[in-house]
Amino acid sequence: MSRTGGPDRLLVRDLAQLVTPAGREAPLRGRAFGVVEILEDAYLLAEGGLVAAVGSMRDLQPLEGDVEELDGSGLCALPGLVDCHTHACFAGDRVDEFALRAAGAGYEELHNAGGGILATVRATRAAGEDGLRAAVGRHREWMLRAGTSTFEAKSGYGLDKATELASLRAIAAEGGRPTWLGAHAVPPEFDDADAYLAFALDEVLPEAAQIADAADVFLERGAFTAEQARRYLVACAAAGLALRLHGDQFTEQGAIPLAVELAARSVDHLEATGDRGARALAESEVVGVLLPASALFLGRPMPPARGLVDAGAAVALATDFNPGSAFCESLPLVCSLACVQLGLSPAEALGACTVNAAHVLGRADRLGRLAPGYEADITLLDAPDWRYLAYHLGGEVVAGVLQKGRLTWRR
Ligand code: NIG
Ligand code: FE
Repeated sequence: MSRTGGPDRLLVRDLAQLVTPAGREAPLRGRAFGVVEILEDAYLLAEGGLVAAVGSMRDLQPLEGDVEELDGSGLCALPGLVDCHTHACFAGDRVDEFALRAAGAGYEELHNAGGGILATVRATRAAGEDGLRAAVGRHREWMLRAGTSTFEAKSGYGLDKATELASLRAIAAEGGRPTWLGAHAVPPEFDDADAYLAFALDEVLPEAAQIADAADVFLERGAFTAEQARRYLVACAAAGLALRLHGDQFTEQGAIPLAVELAARSVDHLEATGDRGARALAESEVVGVLLPASALFLGRPMPPARGLVDAGAAVALATDFNPGSAFCESLPLVCSLACVQLGLSPAEALGACTVNAAHVLGRADRLGRLAPGYEADITLLDAPDWRYLAYHLGGEVVAGVLQKGRLTWRR
């Protein structure tokens, strides 16, 4: 099967299992979260890039006309994984800082000394638009090999007009869903956060809003205050962008109340969230995006995932892929961490990085399930049981990925 050609119809046959979050609603929360439908010895028929039918092989009727076939023996089919929080548009690396952290240096300490995010800003500004597109393309390929069929990526390592806009264009050109993280850090040419935000909102937002789906802000000590985050997000909402926040990563600074007040799509991180914040999130429509690879990579406490879910919050899982706090593009590894560190079940982990992640991107009507009418985005596992997604810790569990009914990667 070619990457670009092929007929309009594809039959994936003889699958060991086909698994999908049940129902049609999004986001999944409460009793509906963690309910999956499992078909053994299954097929999936894709037509025109969409799922036309799924079922048991014994019920498969002869198909008329041209149909390409893909042998699914020994494989499990899942909805294509959706990574709803990455920083995949960056140049260079921070491997030196990684070694310093391994020797005891702190992440915030490195940032305050002019390294951290600002080190990546220097490399990203120097890369040029072609270099950024190549970087996103390389990272997209890593994600695809890990089973990700849809990815979001943020700008936020440019922090000047040309590089922020080039970052958003590079993400879109490589098939990502772009988020404008214009408020990630204060770049060195500005004296303070207020002066930088005035520039970002006056000079960058009008064009960023033409390319991006959403806006994001880093609400944290040493980054932006709740008041600054509100000003930034209100302006972004007025420009038509959906709202996201990095919140409660190291300290609680009011991210959850602000997300609820502004009807944000999500508040992401939550490693420092306490009981009050968890309750407020659970009572709201805002999705909590959990990033356990980031907590692991920085040696931080894990977010209170079980408490959030049991209180009725809608949660998604994502990698946070970036060069500083989570150099990890693997959603299967994140699912493993969700089960062994966050107390989620494999079924909850699957719902969190399919339906709920798609909801955060505003795409749950078409992504996140294997059911008629959804896009035929499929992650194939080389496993006898779909729960190997989380069970095989760090294993090469992904056998292939289909996007809109076409095989785009196969091991
Ligand atoms: O989600 N916390 C803010 N931003 C990123 C990390 C960025 C970096 O270290 O380069 C995060 O962890
Ligand atoms: Fe992040």
